[in-house]
Amino acid sequence: MAATDKEVETTGFLGWIDRRFPLTSTWKAHVSEYYAPKNFNFWYIFGSLALLVLVNQIVTGIFLTMNYKPDATLAFASVEYIMREVPWGWLIRYMHSTGASMFFVVVYLHMFRGLLYGSYRKPRELVWIFGCAIFLCLMAEAFFGYLLPWGQMSFWGAQVIVNLFSAIPFIGPDLSLWIRGDYVVSDVTLNRFFAFHVVAIPLVLIGLVVAHLVALHEVGSNNPDGIEIKAKKDEKGIPLDGIPFHPYYSVHDFMGVCVFLFIFAAIIFFAPEMGGYFLEANNFVPANSLQTPNEIAPVWYFTAFYAMLRATTDPFKIVLMIVVALLGVLALLRARGKWRFGLPVLALLMVVFMAFTESKFWGVVVMGTAVVSLFFLPWLDRSPVKSIRYRPLFHKVFYGVFVFAFLVLGYLGTKPPSPASTLIAQICALIYFAFFLGMPFWTTRGRFKQPPDRVRYKPH
Ligand code: HEM
Repeated sequence: MAATDKEVETTGFLGWIDRRFPLTSTWKAHVSEYYAPKNFNFWYIFGSLALLVLVNQIVTGIFLTMNYKPDATLAFASVEYIMREVPWGWLIRYMHSTGASMFFVVVYLHMFRGLLYGSYRKPRELVWIFGCAIFLCLMAEAFFGYLLPWGQMSFWGAQVIVNLFSAIPFIGPDLSLWIRGDYVVSDVTLNRFFAFHVVAIPLVLIGLVVAHLVALHEVGSNNPDGIEIKAKKDEKGIPLDGIPFHPYYSVHDFMGVCVFLFIFAAIIFFAPEMGGYFLEANNFVPANSLQTPNEIAPVWYFTAFYAMLRATTDPFKIVLMIVVALLGVLALLRARGKWRFGLPVLALLMVVFMAFTESKFWGVVVMGTAVVSLFFLPWLDRSPVKSIRYRPLFHKVFYGVFVFAFLVLGYLGTKPPSPASTLIAQICALIYFAFFLGMPFWTTRGRFKQPPDRVRYKPH
């Protein structure tokens, strides 16, 4: 809600500013008079924490850049120099490397909250879409950043991922050459990854975060009951179940920040490598293009998607072809109008295309689709209620199985593959996609509880 002219400060220094810049009105609209539902719970602190980690990454990143050398002959040594010689360099570097992992911890929990309470549903589709774009950017940012220390894992991780692009039919080999700028990952690649990591992606990320928050403040926050507080307002137009973000939630989030900083500091001071999950042992060895490490595994936040990539073997490609064919038959039986024949023909063409292309390419497609599917959530979920609280028990079971499958994939992605683990990863990948594909059907089924008229709130 924008403040009117009368509410704006007219005297003193603040008045001088306000007559030239919307400072007080912006503060009011987005902080002191932004009415958030009064029943926010634990799950609502992760947005603020994500902002905190974003600031941490930018500030520590700036200081790291002051001593880091984006040159293949100097990069590794410059990181060692930061760790050993630069005053407090070790702290800045650990804050940045731990911050990267904590960013994903916080963002995964933030996304899970969205799933729990249906925060992606109308009218918050754009909030969600900006969020998904942020997630993609974060992945790109982490991937580019990981090459910079120029350790064995940096080098071979980049080599493996860039090589994936070469599996794309027709344009693949040229595309991967274009991305690397060389026939192998080299100084040229390091320079461009550095430019993306420190300038291009952070700019896009900040822009997207602003858009995410502007969109959220336009429609207002959802809440654990999944009901719209704007539907019931007092005579001044203030939602009956809303309380000003400041001071109520600024204090609430401050407490979350304190707890988070305790955990963050404990990791930085006592376990910055986190048993090899945050900083991998192989990355303390300088990059060597002539020696491939025994195991090449990405950092934990990518492993669920990496496990899906590895699970896409030739037999699994056949399973996927059968799934596409079955979807074509389903479309023929259920779809109406021009889609009735269009979709089955499309499915048939896809099956033929799959038969003639290598499974490695389909692994890349599976991995990409796993992330892209998230964008469609607002339209796939057709349940009459938003929050998990009012959904049938079997919905909760489906959510649980989905999250479990994702965690299992994440675990398997950190381990070398075996026939048994590949089979489990394939089953989990099928569960992951079945969750999304089946959503339009299962989300409408079952007995829903009637959500309350006003939010449920216990003073504490
Ligand atoms: C840099 C990363 C991100 C930052 C800084 C950020 C920041 C925020 C903040 C401050 C809020 C309001 C407080 C809250 O509801 O927790 C919020 C809400 C929200 N965010 Fe994010 N976010 C990020 C990433 C994401 C991602 C990756 C998604 C989903 C893919 C997402 C989806 C949402 C949704 C749906 C809401 C509204 C929640 C509701 O009203 O119930 N965000 N975000």
